[in-house]
Amino acid sequence: MNYFKFSLTLTNFNEQSVEIITAFLFQLGFESCEESKNNIYAYASEDNVTDDLINEIEILSINLNFKFTFNEIITENWNKKWESNFEPIQINNDCIIRASFHKQINLKYEIIIDPKMSFGTGHHETTFLVCKELFDINLENKNVLDFGCGTGILSILSSKLNAKSVTAIDYDNKCIDNTFENLKKNNIDNVELIKDDKVPKNKKFDLIISNINRNVILKSFEAFIQTEAKEFILSGFLETDFEILLNKIKDLKFYLINKKNKNGWLMLRIKK
Ligand SMILES: C[S@@+](CC[C@H](N)C(=O)[O-])C[C@H]1O[C@@H](n2cnc3c(N)ncnc32)[C@H](O)[C@@H]1O
Repeated sequence: MNYFKFSLTLTNFNEQSVEIITAFLFQLGFESCEESKNNIYAYASEDNVTDDLINEIEILSINLNFKFTFNEIITENWNKKWESNFEPIQINNDCIIRASFHKQINLKYEIIIDPKMSFGTGHHETTFLVCKELFDINLENKNVLDFGCGTGILSILSSKLNAKSVTAIDYDNKCIDNTFENLKKNNIDNVELIKDDKVPKNKKFDLIISNINRNVILKSFEAFIQTEAKEFILSGFLETDFEILLNKIKDLKFYLINKKNKNGWLMLRIKK
């Protein structure tokens, strides 16, 4: 799947306006945002970039005082950018995530990810927070669903942390191909890979991990519950989304057992 990059130049660039604008962008279906100088860069997959979306951003730009341009990202350039920029990242004392072109680092958990076009190297706050949280859970004998697997990073880590089985789902062909390659590079053989945009109806899980975005998570909650999973680790949303997620969590009779924030991004662990 190809991606579009929207470049927003803010008239009044400050923390509060960045938070408000990025919250709106996520509501509109953008998958990630980054900020630099007076700009916000927001990324959306091609199937989300419709005339309606562009109209919505035009209205936002008038109300929230920014100018914007957008362009399609060429796959080769994106790959090159990742390959030249990606540094190994360490989680806790004993886990390292690196690409195959980095030299070997001898830690107990060494995860090799060649991300190509997919999301999930551990550098993004959300992936980092979920990886860290997985170390605080006993995964032995657990059947795990990784909904929105990207590079497969969370599935690979779950498997290395002794999960009994992992089901990795993504709706993007590039992520499925990339997860397949990364599973092989890490010698993982207990992950079932499914291309879909929905949670399977006929499968039971103990733990669901989903780092997607606020809207998909809100839409998927009922389907998550149908799997009989009693514990979820959720991310891909911002502190500003907390109230709406907490209300949903309470409605569904789950309770919050951990909440972590990194640069405004949130990770929630909830239990039945
Ligand atoms: C933010 S990335 C997370 C990737 C990885 N799990 C991580 O933690 O770094 C979200 C992933 O969810 C996928 N995705 C978004 N909406 C989806 C949907 N409705 N069904 C399945 N996958 C979806 C995207 O293709 C993307 O790979």
